[in-house]
Amino acid sequence: MSSPAIAIIFLLSLLELHPVLVLSRDTNSADPCDSTMKRDPRTLRPDQITVLINGYSESRIPLLQSISATYSASPLVSTVLVLWGNPSTPHHVLTQLAHNLSISSFGSASISVVRQPSSSLNARFLPRASIGTRAVLICDDDVEVDPKSFEFAVRIWASNPDRMIGFFARSHDLDLSRKEWIYTVHPDRYSIILTKFMILKSDYLHKYSCQGGPQMIELRRTVDEMCNCEDILMNFVVADATNAGPILVAAERVRDYGDARNDNHIDGDDKRLGLKGVESKKGVKDVGLSSRRREHRKRRGQCIRKFHKVLGKMPLRYSYGKVVNSVGEQGLCQKGGKLVFCDH
Ligand SMILES: *[C@@H]1O[C@H](CO)[C@@H](O)[C@H](O)[C@H]1NC(C)=O
Repeated sequence: MSSPAIAIIFLLSLLELHPVLVLSRDTNSADPCDSTMKRDPRTLRPDQITVLINGYSESRIPLLQSISATYSASPLVSTVLVLWGNPSTPHHVLTQLAHNLSISSFGSASISVVRQPSSSLNARFLPRASIGTRAVLICDDDVEVDPKSFEFAVRIWASNPDRMIGFFARSHDLDLSRKEWIYTVHPDRYSIILTKFMILKSDYLHKYSCQGGPQMIELRRTVDEMCNCEDILMNFVVADATNAGPILVAAERVRDYGDARNDNHIDGDDKRLGLKGVESKKGVKDVGLSSRRREHRKRRGQCIRKFHKVLGKMPLRYSYGKVVNSVGEQGLCQKGGKLVFCDH
């Protein structure tokens, strides 16, 4: 046989073996807000969720691959969509990535790579036609969650389907001396779930992207101008719809590579800068990080003030405490002359 023929047979066999290989541009073709395209909520699966992972940095592809494979192995996941937001990544890298992901998916869930139509942060919340589940998980490409904690979070969502569920929380607050809203962390309460890991009803994607009239248009424009705060705006949308705060869930093992406490962490702000075409400085020990984090908080505070001003109200609500997946009483016991957890 001539070599082109062999090559064609080889390609065909690849296609046959990996029917899930997709490099789709589904949002370019159809308007995701077209109401005739909106799925009847009764046809959405209640027992599985769609995972939307934001991908941006080529240096994090190996991690992205392992995270996607873990989610696709869960019986609770229907589809994993990798939303690629870096417009300068060459097409062949994404084709290669889509191929690699399709062979690393263990479960019945397919993994697809979708190139985002623009670098707008709002695009991660587009109500895609390919979302066939009642809930979605929005997450980042640098957060690893153990399967048990993930499944626990999905169960908590299922009994609180209107609320937002997550593992990472922050707060708004009123600075009384300056009489202005700020973005902060409280040790004992929270009002904002981060998109590092956020489960919510897929209907809220439609609310965020398509509803709310001129106010929402202005709010989404603020997200684009700030290159930040899409997560805060989603918290506004959900809190406004439910008049309730989010639910923070305790995870057993979560690895957040973007956490500033890592030795060579990838700072959240680097990812934002990345959106302007600068590759994130992975592995570079940062000098003056704390001032950058202060700057980050300040910008997030600006978003909260702007959202409040446009809406003319503050919909964010505080929640208290964390939901844990065990009612066991973990005490300390004397074992082998040492004080250790009794169950270990
Ligand atoms: C795909 O997998 C191959 C082989 O493991 C690896 O060399 C390559 O870097 C991967 N590429 C992408 C884009 O994932």
